[in-house]
Amino acid sequence: MLRIDVITLFPEMIEGAVTHGVLGQALKKDHLAISAHTPREFANDRHRTVDDRPFGGGDGMIMLAETLEKTLHKVQHKNSKIIYMSPQGKTLTDDLARTFSNEEHLVLICGRYGGIDQRIINSYVDEEVSIGDYVLSGGELGALVLIDAVARFIPGVLGHDESAHKDSFSAGLLEHPNFTRPRVYLEQEVPDVLLSGNHKVIEEWKSKVSALVTLQKRPDLFLEYIHQENLKYQALKKKKKKTPLVELKSFFMSLSDKDKQVLGLQDLTEEDFNV
Ligand SMILES: C[S@@+](CC[C@H](N)C(=O)[O-])C[C@H]1O[C@@H](n2cnc3c(N)ncnc32)[C@H](O)[C@@H]1O
Repeated sequence: MLRIDVITLFPEMIEGAVTHGVLGQALKKDHLAISAHTPREFANDRHRTVDDRPFGGGDGMIMLAETLEKTLHKVQHKNSKIIYMSPQGKTLTDDLARTFSNEEHLVLICGRYGGIDQRIINSYVDEEVSIGDYVLSGGELGALVLIDAVARFIPGVLGHDESAHKDSFSAGLLEHPNFTRPRVYLEQEVPDVLLSGNHKVIEEWKSKVSALVTLQKRPDLFLEYIHQENLKYQALKKKKKKTPLVELKSFFMSLSDKDKQVLGLQDLTEEDFNV
């Protein structure tokens, strides 16, 4: 079972948020254990001070090394991976979340104010992780994003119908659009193929639509995907007539305008395939 300890000045932000939905179920079923700890517990003065002014001046208070270190000593063991949530860190991705899900113990340090004393990062932190190129006022929201993304990869956390392996990014592609009843709504009709009952055809169709959605929304991801598909194609002994890109373009051209519209692909053009 993955255990996650979060070091934060606001434990209630973590404790309150993780009791809902998929995470709440994962905790109940013991797929995951999450605890929050505050450095204030180790502040001995009357005001329970956990921060101080930065040496050399500057904006914002800095979280004290000593109270953070004592909190780390409370939770750390030899297999702990210590992560500092930081805008300066490696950006959280699906792959990184999957890697973290294989750890035994994660410790997430949430900064506040101007951040934490660098010496804690130097001496204890294994990895700095950012949730994006913007600055938050505290690490708690980042920690919650990381916890949610990691939990989805723990076996048993998602039910049979949901699967982290079908979601966006899992195969380097974004997920295809999804529809539920009724078949026609807002004058838009669900593509016939999804009602055909032919699972093999449906799966192939979905994976091609995924590739088209990725081409439209994330050309950067699409380039990597098509590069990998080309390598597989080159390795084939008996080559198909069409390269992966040409095959995808033909599939796109074969879609009706009505289907392109309902799939949100109406703005994709033949020129977009000149990658
Ligand atoms: C106001 S920020 C401090 C930023 C710091 N002075 C800097 O420029 O790198 C306070 C805390 O929010 C958290 N934080 C801010 N932006 C974040 C991001 N993009 N991802 C993860 N954590 C973030 C960090 O824990 C940070 O210590």
